[in-house]
Amino acid sequence: MLCLTFWKSVLCIVSLSSVTAKVLPDGRPHANMVRPPGVPLVRIPAPDAPVISSNGTVLPPYNTLYEFDQLIDHKNPSLGTFKQRFWHTYEFYEPGGPIILSTPGETNAGGYTGYLTNRTINGLIAQQENGGTIILEHRFYGFSNPYPDLSVASLKYHTIQQAIDDLEYFAKNVHLPIPGGDQLTPNKAPSILIGGSYSGALTSWTMVNNPGLFFAGYSSSGVVQAILDFWQYFEPIRQNLPQNCSADVQAVMSHIDRVFLSGNKMAIQAIKESFGMENVNHFDDSLQVTSGPGAQFYQFCDALEVKDGQSAPASGWGLDHALAAWSNYWKITYFATICGKYDAETCLGSYDATQTSWHNTSIDNAGRSWMWIVWNEVGYLQEGAPLGQLLLRQCQQMFTGAFPYGIVIPNTFRTNLLNQGWNVKFDRLFFANGIRDPWREATMSAQGLNAKSTLSQPIALSDGFHCSDFGASAAQVDPTIATVHKQALESFRMWPATWKPTGQGRPVASPRSFPQPARKVSQPVISKQLSAWLKGAGVL
Ligand SMILES: *[C@@H]1O[C@H](CO)[C@@H](O)[C@H](O)[C@H]1NC(C)=O
Ligand SMILES: *[C@@H]1O[C@H](CO)[C@@H](O)[C@H](O)[C@H]1NC(C)=O
Ligand SMILES: *[C@@H]1O[C@H](CO)[C@@H](O)[C@H](O)[C@H]1NC(C)=O
Ligand SMILES: *[C@@H]1O[C@H](CO)[C@@H](O)[C@H](O)[C@H]1NC(C)=O
Repeated sequence: MLCLTFWKSVLCIVSLSSVTAKVLPDGRPHANMVRPPGVPLVRIPAPDAPVISSNGTVLPPYNTLYEFDQLIDHKNPSLGTFKQRFWHTYEFYEPGGPIILSTPGETNAGGYTGYLTNRTINGLIAQQENGGTIILEHRFYGFSNPYPDLSVASLKYHTIQQAIDDLEYFAKNVHLPIPGGDQLTPNKAPSILIGGSYSGALTSWTMVNNPGLFFAGYSSSGVVQAILDFWQYFEPIRQNLPQNCSADVQAVMSHIDRVFLSGNKMAIQAIKESFGMENVNHFDDSLQVTSGPGAQFYQFCDALEVKDGQSAPASGWGLDHALAAWSNYWKITYFATICGKYDAETCLGSYDATQTSWHNTSIDNAGRSWMWIVWNEVGYLQEGAPLGQLLLRQCQQMFTGAFPYGIVIPNTFRTNLLNQGWNVKFDRLFFANGIRDPWREATMSAQGLNAKSTLSQPIALSDGFHCSDFGASAAQVDPTIATVHKQALESFRMWPATWKPTGQGRPVASPRSFPQPARKVSQPVISKQLSAWLKGAGVL
């Protein structure tokens, strides 16, 4: 149990998981609050250049902000509407072309205007197909909020279903600022939905939820299967470390496991000291080091494996050097980036429930909004046993009163049941995943799932990381991403050509696309600890 916990937490150093939230006195946000999955897409700003349409007309700049009157509650429209922000361009649009809608998901969408342009797959499709592009801010992120705060009462309307219904209501009712822009609803123009990571999952879930609404979709690293105890997060990382780095990481971790399991207080303290964690009061806080940006992945291995300009052989340098190099890297490079001048307890300690950061309900706080979805619907907890206790405590500190029975279990079962998770089989939904993506095991390219890629239901796999295929320029760096782009552009050339307007109501989904029999996949293994814990909690 313990070793798994520590093993996972430490390995997070090289993971893509991101951390938000606690705001230290100088305003720097960081580190004690874990933000389980939620890797917002890479921000890609739009170029500053004037936007010129194909016939030479000068169009509004990419960063022109538009607003849409969105329903607060799709189950009860009488509650009224709120302003949902969006950005749009018809740079490449010509009558008959597709409308390409995308939400960056769990983040303020302001930095994402580049997703309107051919700097991303969205724009590449638009350019090829003479389409118009739209970036829509997800409800409860940035400045698209039903109510002016993120209190528990407001967050009642923050559900995956409401987000899916937003996409539908927007697509059917938006009047785009474009000639004939009120005639571009999904029944009159082919609509394409694009997303990555959570919004990639949302793309799949929306198409399942609303068959026939969106004509085609592109899901980049879409984490389609909600998984409660997401230990698989570490598999792609482990499998893709350089051999020497992998050998040394395992040597260090089994050493640390042994020491912590031995209960030898002095030896434990020595390890905490070598990582500069001696003054962290609570054991689990000292494990909360889960905040490694992906870019540091190789830097980390270099720090471990390159000694005096020499690279270690495949077997690594062995425990002594690796432990020293690792703790040094942590103390000198890594800790400073997340904690700045603060000591470890101030930065990583998470037990002080009176800190305002737990109760700050101001809007535009993506960490808080995302935690709400994590706790209610998607899980993906990357924490060892006792499962989620640290996150559970944090969740209760954060959303006081929201979970009155004192037990918080994300209802991943329901999420997968409603949205089909890995069982999705939908024509014209293109999945693009990356071999080195820590999230791979929640996508359609999960190992062991063996989902079949076909012409009408393609699943492309590059050598990339999380959502690497989103950016156009990645194709220049990685030929496997170029191949994914080529395959996607071929699909999006083929599909819109087969589209026919239905004139009224919704376009019809191809009959074999939905409903369909559930694919037989082995559901995620529930670990022994987890099932024991669930039994103890009366859930199983
Ligand atoms: C050029 O295209 C825009 C919209 O894309 C349209 O409003 C305008 O009338 C067109 N101009 C000409 C000369 O065709
Ligand atoms: C991308 O679009 C811009 C116009 O916004 C155009 O100048 C450029 O050539 C396009 N790039 C490619 C690779 O097609
Ligand atoms: C050893 O580690 C270095 C630095 O990360 C890496 O460049 C090299 O490929 C690794 N060699 C082997 C054999 O694993
Ligand atoms: C609350 O959060 C908002 C948005 O994240 C931030 O601007 C503000 O400074 C925070 N207030 C306090 C008291 O920490």
